[in-house]
Amino acid sequence: MKKGIFMAVLMVGAFCTSVSAASDVPDDALTVIHSRKSVRHFTGRSVDADTLTRIVRAGMAAPAAENMQARSFVIVTAKEGLEALAAGLPYAKMLDQAGAAIVVCALPEKAYQKKAEFAILNATCASENMLLAIEALKLGGVWTAVYPEENLMAHVRDTLGIPENVIPLNVIPVGEPTGVDRPKDKFNPENMHWEKW
Ligand SMILES: Cc1cc2nc3c(=O)[nH]c(=O)nc-3n(C[C@H](O)[C@H](O)[C@H](O)COP(=O)(O)O)c2cc1C
Repeated sequence: MKKGIFMAVLMVGAFCTSVSAASDVPDDALTVIHSRKSVRHFTGRSVDADTLTRIVRAGMAAPAAENMQARSFVIVTAKEGLEALAAGLPYAKMLDQAGAAIVVCALPEKAYQKKAEFAILNATCASENMLLAIEALKLGGVWTAVYPEENLMAHVRDTLGIPENVIPLNVIPVGEPTGVDRPKDKFNPENMHWEKW
């Protein structure tokens, strides 16, 4: 076959066939995604600094608008620090049993167009990456609410010395899971809209 014809056949083929996942693609990432669950029961064992750094590194690898990171992380390992956080966070009492906590902060002044919304979106992407990294490392974690509740944000700022121009988005307790928390199946075909709504 002449080179020109061969190229044309290749191009037509590329437009006519859809890409499907090869059966030999490793499913590790999908396994981690579907195994992830909010873990609220911990053994109380501490988590070492190297492991916490690996988790935060995964957070920093997340997408960010215009690659303007606009997010920072406060890592709390001391028991007193965890208890102080728990004291003002009614939905984060599991901090008492966690080995550490990571507080994800959004930095509006460093965000694309200096918009708080972009900083919060970037910090949210980092949070999910970290929750997946925690699962991949066979640890447990859970997003506990801070933003947008003003009183919770004030408590976290006061406890950790976070400046007013920084938004504490969440507190993620991290620790060795006891094993009671299980993933939920949330797949719902009704929420899939093919081609149009
Ligand atoms: C914005 C946000 C706020 C949340 N706040 C809390 C919280 O304060 N305490 C808590 O235990 N879980 C909290 N969660 C975790 C959700 O309850 C949990 O993700 C949901 O029930 C689904 O369960 P799963 O994470 O195991 O899939 C929060 C999650 C998100 C995304």
